Amino acid sequence: MKAIILAAGVGKRMKSNKAKVLHSVIGKPMLGCLIDALACHNLDESFIVVGHNGNQVEDYLKAQNFSNTYKTVYQEPLLGTGHALMQVAPHLKKYESNILVLNGDMPLISAKSIASLIEEHLTNQNDLTLLTSKTTNPSGFGRIVRDFEDKLTSIVEENDANLDQKQIKEVNLGIYCFSWTAIAPGLNDLKPNNEQAEYYITDLIKWAKINNLKIGSYTLMNHKEACGVNSRADLALANRYMSDLCIENLQENGVTIIDPSSTWIGPDVRIGQDSIIFPNTTIFNDVIIGKNCLIGPASHIEGDVSIGNDTEVKYSYLANCSVGNNCTIGPFTNLRVGANLSDFVRIGNFVEIKASCIDNNSNVSHLSYIGDTNIGAHSNIGAGTITANYNHLTKEKSKTQIGSNVSIGSNTVLVAPVSVGDSAVVGAGTVVTKEVPQGSLAVGRSPQINRPDWVLKKIGAKK
Ligand code: UD1
Ligand code: MG
Repeated sequence: MKAIILAAGVGKRMKSNKAKVLHSVIGKPMLGCLIDALACHNLDESFIVVGHNGNQVEDYLKAQNFSNTYKTVYQEPLLGTGHALMQVAPHLKKYESNILVLNGDMPLISAKSIASLIEEHLTNQNDLTLLTSKTTNPSGFGRIVRDFEDKLTSIVEENDANLDQKQIKEVNLGIYCFSWTAIAPGLNDLKPNNEQAEYYITDLIKWAKINNLKIGSYTLMNHKEACGVNSRADLALANRYMSDLCIENLQENGVTIIDPSSTWIGPDVRIGQDSIIFPNTTIFNDVIIGKNCLIGPASHIEGDVSIGNDTEVKYSYLANCSVGNNCTIGPFTNLRVGANLSDFVRIGNFVEIKASCIDNNSNVSHLSYIGDTNIGAHSNIGAGTITANYNHLTKEKSKTQIGSNVSIGSNTVLVAPVSVGDSAVVGAGTVVTKEVPQGSLAVGRSPQINRPDWVLKKIGAKK
């Protein structure tokens, strides 16, 4: 079987400079969602029809390493979904088997539903099988017209439908299996004589009926997958439904989501059993969270992130970082790219960590910036510690090395490149500009002066 994704359309109602299929649903472009749903099927060749902002789609495919699997075919001008399929015909000249055609703006269709459609098509040896859904709100979709024997006879687009047809609750999802040899001749017979003056792929159904071909359909089990995105409002709904589907799946696997309506979780997120997600939390992209974790409230985790078991993240922002087991993060922590924390690490409020490794049982509990730094095990970084890693004049970043069992006093500035050896102590308020050897004390502040009775004398003078 070969797959063809139709992704050339302008998506006029989106009013966007971005190709419609690249708009994201919980952090993943719609096209990526479809490609994922296709990944487990045995496809021998796949095409994507591109047109409006086609270069953006090609760049995306390259960046995601999809460009070897998906060949792009340009549609120019854009004359409808039937016309989009016509553009692939020259690539299928000697092909005699089945094709799967998918609208690129149906991001929630699952691999399972696609498999059921294919199975329906192959088992019944249909010439044409389409995916439908029954919904209470069919507006925006093409309506499935059936005859008195319940046999599918045509699809009527919303714009071309009469009042009776508009009442039909069964809709076309824009996902079809075709026997290419049976259906290809129908493309030559498509006419743009409709309200939008376009070549509709959906007119192939009427053509197939007239030509006595075998037509079938598979009706979706979960109506939330039936979400076509033509507008920003549709996109918002797709985000909600995608999150709902992911949350339902996590719940099935033993994860507690305290308030699904204020929680947003993307399709690639994995969370271990008995973890609890508190309200107002968003988790996007390739995030893996272990068992028994407490995540949120009000936290955002995105990018490539891994969190071990029994870890707590409160009111915090984590992106492209890793956190071990039994750690405590937050409230109000910012873990940026390359922050790698081992086990039993505690990071507290108003602490930002970037490109730094922190070993087991070390703490950075309050008001600190740690960048381009390695910290050994069992070290404590006092409140207000700053690693000064950036030279504004040379634009260079430098590294700070802090050993194990180190105590860095509050309000310390470590001017990188610099190192502090194992078991060393740095006094509060020190500006560390040179190496602190293992086991030593470094203090770099002006000695305190006490002036006895200074206050009394001042008050006395005033009187
Ligand atoms: C289409 C179907 C409709 C179905 C709905 C499901 C047609 C005529 N109608 O309507 O029956 O209920 O999808 O969501 O097919 N595209 C191209 N080239 C074009 C036009 C569109 O590649 O010239 C692509 C778009 O990028 C999009 C897909 O085809 O990914 C569907 O096009 P769209 O304009 O969104 O069709 P709908 O009006 O949603
Ligand atoms: Mg659409």
